[in-house]
Amino acid sequence: MPEPDAYTVRAATNADLPAIEALLEAAELPTRGLAGCIETCFVAADAGGVIIAAAGLEPYGEVALLRSVVVRQDRRGTGAGDAVVRAALNLVGEMGLDGLYLFSVKATGFFARFGFEMRPHRRWPRAMRASLQYRQMDRWDPKNEKITGMALELPPVDQSGQKAPR
Ligand SMILES: CC(C)(COP(=O)(O)OP(=O)(O)OC[C@H]1O[C@@H](n2cnc3c(N)ncnc32)[C@H](O)[C@@H]1OP(=O)(O)O)[C@@H](O)C(=O)NCCC(=O)NCCS
Repeated sequence: MPEPDAYTVRAATNADLPAIEALLEAAELPTRGLAGCIETCFVAADAGGVIIAAAGLEPYGEVALLRSVVVRQDRRGTGAGDAVVRAALNLVGEMGLDGLYLFSVKATGFFARFGFEMRPHRRWPRAMRASLQYRQMDRWDPKNEKITGMALELPPVDQSGQKAPR
């Protein structure tokens, strides 16, 4: 019998979209554009298959937006956020991306644990301007809460195809 609190992290599918969107809406996070990058999203599902957390990558060439990082309210603080972000970071490594960017209101400390640093979106690479969240930056924040841009630059890939250590 699995532990009642146990969850499994796996790649998201189109069938997971409504559940992920419900989590995002409950956390007042944007849902637009998620369907277009569902194949680079991850979910944590509990023992009954219910989605309790998600994290997604929205790739733009050599860089990507880390988006839709969310954990159901009653499951926060149990490591699920960490687990889905690590799954996304593993994929970033496999894709050989140069950098990862995100917007956060209240979770900058959480993302700093993974090495993200404050980086205003206007100082992000030009490729990130294609992101809807980048373009809607000013309209996204209905409560005028402070939105922080963050960046994680990744080391270059060496000739063996591995990311070289910094
Ligand atoms: C931010 C969020 C995803 C964190 O998920 P979580 O499952 O609660 O976090 P975890 O249990 O995996 O925490 C892992 C570690 O990060 C720390 N942490 C969690 N949230 C944090 C925060 N907001 N600031 C600083 N540290 C945080 C935890 O204390 C824990 O540290 P520890 O390993 O030293 O004990 C979750 O709180 C959430 O869904 N928030 C609302 C949505 C949101 O703001 N998303 C980000 C914008 S895209």
